Amino acid sequence: MTRVSKEKRVEFTIKAGSPEKLKSDCVVVGVYAGSDLTASAKALDKAADGAITALVARGELDDKVGATLMLHDLPGIAAPRVLLVSLGKADELTDKSYRDAVGAAAKQLAGSVAADAAFILTETELPHRDLAWRISQAAQILKDSTYRCDELKSKREESKKGVKKVVFIAKAKDTAPLEAALRRGTAIAEGMALAKTLGNLPGNVCTPTYLATTARKLAKDHKIKVEVLEKGDMEKLGMGALLSVARGSHEPPKFIILNYKGGKAKDKPVVLVGKGITFDSGGLSLKSTEGMFDMKYDMSGAACVLGAIKAIAKLGEEINVIGLIPATENMPGGSSIKPGDIVTSMSGSTIEILNTDAEGRIILADALSYSKLFNPEYVIDVATLTGATVIALGTKRAALFTNSSELQEALTKAANNSNDFCWSMPLDDEYFENLSTNFADMANVGPPEGSFGASAYFLSRFTQDVKWAHLDITGVAWQRGKDKRSTGRPTPLLIQFLIDHCNAKKP
Ligand code: BES
Ligand code: MN
Ligand code: ZN
Repeated sequence: MTRVSKEKRVEFTIKAGSPEKLKSDCVVVGVYAGSDLTASAKALDKAADGAITALVARGELDDKVGATLMLHDLPGIAAPRVLLVSLGKADELTDKSYRDAVGAAAKQLAGSVAADAAFILTETELPHRDLAWRISQAAQILKDSTYRCDELKSKREESKKGVKKVVFIAKAKDTAPLEAALRRGTAIAEGMALAKTLGNLPGNVCTPTYLATTARKLAKDHKIKVEVLEKGDMEKLGMGALLSVARGSHEPPKFIILNYKGGKAKDKPVVLVGKGITFDSGGLSLKSTEGMFDMKYDMSGAACVLGAIKAIAKLGEEINVIGLIPATENMPGGSSIKPGDIVTSMSGSTIEILNTDAEGRIILADALSYSKLFNPEYVIDVATLTGATVIALGTKRAALFTNSSELQEALTKAANNSNDFCWSMPLDDEYFENLSTNFADMANVGPPEGSFGASAYFLSRFTQDVKWAHLDITGVAWQRGKDKRSTGRPTPLLIQFLIDHCNAKKP
């Protein structure tokens, strides 16, 4: 059963215009700390006979980045509302302060009775960022702010509030790059929304079968081919590692293959691999009650792969992308794999499973082996692989492990440009000692010391001869605490990486 959230729509356009003459329900402009008005705020102030200067001087608008003040019916201004947004000190502007200010404006617009808005915050000059970047980010943030996940509420709140149209005010000789930026920002938010919804849906709804249905639906709506391998197919392929994790579950495992062919037939594809454990109980190495709280999010890697491919297909990027999703539950049961069991992976190498809770690397082993069949340019896997990521890096940055300096550079650049950060970790051969065992080619876990590095090292053994990167996203994929929810990360990073890769190939 596919559930659809009644999505709130917001449309974007780009136009030129003088702030005071705009025929809009609400004009959104920035103000710097110390009552320092931006160019557009100055124009509005002049038209309103200094009303804005007077209010700001009186301290009505806090200096803190993201503080807002909604003004109504100012004289001399066509629009009935002016939303002032604090940008902080003019000489201290950063990507973050810009995004925070846009986010604060988005929140105000979502709760306002204004039906449309003229958005001029994008005029804010930032070091190293052009107007296209600022527009793309703003579109993404504004669209993302309309995201809801209420599929499973019996009564949905239908709010009439919130703007339905946003016009970005910008004067440009050539608006084509700005229109492209707008489409990009919107597509990123749409990809994130898919990733968020899949992450947020509980384990009893978002099963491997549900992921497969979602992939098929995506293929129907876009230029994507999809194939879903069943248990029998996996057996034929010798995916003994993936199948061993699925043994304890009553839900049938699925191996989902998405194929987007936007590039030339001869272009090698980028393969994205997403961990799709739709619930991780730990298996016989059972987690504690608290340890299981967030385990419906253990398919966040898969969700991002679906989200990223959706966005790339929507944008019609000229690139070939394959998405691979090994999907299964990890459950205890009479037929579960047991600590000490040895399984044979698709690559032929044997794995001694000492801890059934280190299941992500086991299913990824087979997915990574399968990825080689596509003769890939790059293979990137995305997985909620370890709790150690959160200890090491917190929730701002995903951990990046790679065997390719080229990928390290490209992913780090894409992360910084998409504000979806990662940080490089070492991938040393010495980790092999952690995983050596008397009984098989490799164990799936070793001693606690260095277990973070060893988790990535384990994967690297299945990706020899390809340029491969592993993103451990346990810290970034969902927000913890009371306001728990999927973040949709690192979908923006993946999309940015693919777009950059595509542009780099253009003559
Ligand atoms: N899905 C978990 C990773 C995880 C752990 C996410 C804690 C969120 C919070 C993964 O399958 C797992 O259980 N990893 C183990 C590995 C250990 C047994 C070597 C971990 O990190 O504890
Ligand atoms: Mn686990
Ligand atoms: Zn897991």
